[in-house]
Amino acid sequence: MRILHISDTHIGGASYFNKEVLEGILGETRKHKYDLVIHSGDVTQGGRRQEFEQARKILSRIDIPLIALAGNHDARSGGLCLFEKYIGPLDGVREIGDAVIIHVNSAFEDSDQGRVGMVKFDMMRKALNDYSEKKIKIIVLHHHTIPIPMAGRERNVLTNAGDILDLLLKEDVDLVLSGHRHYPNIYQIENTVFINAGTASAKKTRYGDVNSYNIIEINERIRKVKTVRLDGKVQGFSFLRRKKRIFSDFGEREFRAVHIANTLISESRAFLKRNFINAVDTIKKLNPDLLIHCGGIVREGIAGDYEAAVSYMEKFDIPVVYTPAGRDMNYLGYYLFPTYFGSIDQRYSNESILFQGVCSAQYDSHEGIVGPSQRKLLLKKLETPEETKAVFLHHNVLPIPHSREKGLLEDSGDLLREIVDAEIDLVLTGTSSHPFAVQIGETIVVNANSLSSVYQRSVFGNSFNIIDIYEGAIAVFEVNSLWGRRRLLGIWERNKKAD
Ligand SMILES: [Fe+2]
Ligand SMILES: [Fe+2]
Repeated sequence: MRILHISDTHIGGASYFNKEVLEGILGETRKHKYDLVIHSGDVTQGGRRQEFEQARKILSRIDIPLIALAGNHDARSGGLCLFEKYIGPLDGVREIGDAVIIHVNSAFEDSDQGRVGMVKFDMMRKALNDYSEKKIKIIVLHHHTIPIPMAGRERNVLTNAGDILDLLLKEDVDLVLSGHRHYPNIYQIENTVFINAGTASAKKTRYGDVNSYNIIEINERIRKVKTVRLDGKVQGFSFLRRKKRIFSDFGEREFRAVHIANTLISESRAFLKRNFINAVDTIKKLNPDLLIHCGGIVREGIAGDYEAAVSYMEKFDIPVVYTPAGRDMNYLGYYLFPTYFGSIDQRYSNESILFQGVCSAQYDSHEGIVGPSQRKLLLKKLETPEETKAVFLHHNVLPIPHSREKGLLEDSGDLLREIVDAEIDLVLTGTSSHPFAVQIGETIVVNANSLSSVYQRSVFGNSFNIIDIYEGAIAVFEVNSLWGRRRLLGIWERNKKAD
């Protein structure tokens, strides 16, 4: 199956829209054989009637099946009803051969944000269920699920991106196509390939980039994506379907880390002392080499909470590295954290493993940012000879299920791309209080639930993660703080580093 994937045409006035460019791209469908054209939204610039009339005229010249989505720009000026009238249905399911394509509108009036509400979320889940026997499953959403690099602040990720990501991975979707950010980007997470298209014909390109589109070839075994830029540059990517395997021989265990977050130590009811004490016992019995605290040590950055935190954390009697959350830094925290717990960018290294912390917290704010200068510094710090490398920070680099995207790092798009491209083995985060672990590219991203506070989001209760690093695999488990019950979050074969 061959798909032409275009996006963000922004058809409208001459100041935004380049008609010749779009007509040139659509000419592709007459030159080469395609089964389908997918337009992932922002068909028009402003959702106005004249723009939709012009869009229909241009798009009707495509003589193969077309699936077009509405974007936030189409939703302007009450444009969603015009979209249905001139372009097509906002949501739908289409079967083409062995494939099913489910497209869901994520745009709504008067907002650039993306959202898939409960009704549509259920529709998506039901459609994936109904068509589970299809060999190829494709989801199309205008807004992206995974943060995009070179997109500035990541404010427009779908508000419930974590739940959507969780659903797409559980249902083993093959492709997720999006647009919106006007910058092309591709990731494989587990078995799903997330493809973002640049803008096909809007003059609003980013970072000096040019217009582009994607050519996708897919069968049961392999997904090939070519990003074609109009300056002639072509980038090709191939993703093999990963085999599902149970591993029996991982080689020797090289390292065991315990990953915790949001202990919220304090005199308040927010801190669950019994959960903390029980977790200390369980963790000590697990005999880890290192404990990583991804922030939220104290409830507030006040002297009393810090003093209590020092005596509680001493109970572990294991090497610990810390990275702060906003709450650790507020009030006097920016002074107390370094006084009691050391530098804000901590690091642990033996000869073969490096854990490098990076501070994403700011005082008096829950929002996280690393920023371009610190990102550069971080990448430098990671240029070391250890075979296994991990980065830890408080804020999320991927959306987390059951939470709104409040914990997502402002520059998650750029940081994630840089870390994945550097083939860092692990990223550990500690906000949104929900355990989650997935592999993106060759990098495993793990988030920790709250260890011992009432504010947690796992139906299994407060918990921490064990990260076991073997020669041939990395395994991540969630362990309940109170009872010590364990469940597997994931296990991934490691690509042995080139000898
Ligand atoms: Fe757009
Ligand atoms: Fe958009």
